[in-house]
Amino acid sequence: MQIFSITSGKGGVGKTSLICNIAARLGQLGKQVLLIDADLGLANVDILMGVTPRATLEQLFSGQKTLEDILLPGPPGVTILPSGSGVKELTHLSDAQIMTLMTALDELDRPFDVLLIDTGAGIGKNVLDFNAAAQDVLVVTNPEPTAITDAYAIIKVLARDNGVRRFQLIVNSVQSPRQGIEVYRTITTVADKHMADIPGLNVEYLGHVLRDENVSRAVLERKLLVVGHPESAASLCIHDLVDRLLEGSADAMPTGNMQFFWKRLLQQPSA
Ligand SMILES: Nc1ncnc2c1ncn2[C@@H]1O[C@H](COP(=O)(O)OP(=O)(O)O)[C@@H](O)[C@H]1O
Ligand SMILES: [Mg+2]
Repeated sequence: MQIFSITSGKGGVGKTSLICNIAARLGQLGKQVLLIDADLGLANVDILMGVTPRATLEQLFSGQKTLEDILLPGPPGVTILPSGSGVKELTHLSDAQIMTLMTALDELDRPFDVLLIDTGAGIGKNVLDFNAAAQDVLVVTNPEPTAITDAYAIIKVLARDNGVRRFQLIVNSVQSPRQGIEVYRTITTVADKHMADIPGLNVEYLGHVLRDENVSRAVLERKLLVVGHPESAASLCIHDLVDRLLEGSADAMPTGNMQFFWKRLLQQPSA
């Protein structure tokens, strides 16, 4: 199983739009995806995916509901754990509750190929915890200088204080592919200068997504971009991102490492 979290330094750069479409694209390619909405500030995976939470994790732990009652079906191949179901509490679970959740996930009849986590922006504890547990972090920025500075800042905190070593940068809303590469260069130049002492730090360039009005049009139409506008410029960029994601860690990840994810989430030092 591959596990990716998505985060950014600054809000509003396109994390949720991208992760929902990445999930849907993975589904189109035949993958089984679990998408966890862990953005507690501005949770909106459910809105973009057009789903409504039905039950909470609390009801799972008290035995009133099953995991199947909590998970919601998204586009083909995609299953959603919506924020409204109590994801906020995920970082504060007891060992027993984590075991209950892991067992329930193991018992689902469909094993997941990819786990995606939409975390919020910035350096709140929950954001850091989920990204630290995921280990493979997709960092989204756009070409605005403030977004770039904040993207660098979150990489620095996750690398220095939370032990994350692998970052994959997505530059969203660019006017050209070249603009994306320039943003990547800016970030790696600063990282090379100030984080050279962190062993094994790896900031890769996953790619760009063009600015495209079809992204917001799809939201208004209550469709996902890759479903409603599959040939649009931004949709084709998402195809490329997903191809690289699948290539990048094809066999780097041992199977069954969902358990490691939950354990790492539990082991994050409390604030
Ligand atoms: N490539 C793009 N082109 C045009 N608009 C975009 C693009 N990506 C995102 N947007 C728009 O930017 C806004 C913020 O996106 P969102 O995914 O909610 O960001 P975040 O989750 O980072 O806060 C939304 O209105 C979305 O439609
Ligand atoms: Mg969001």
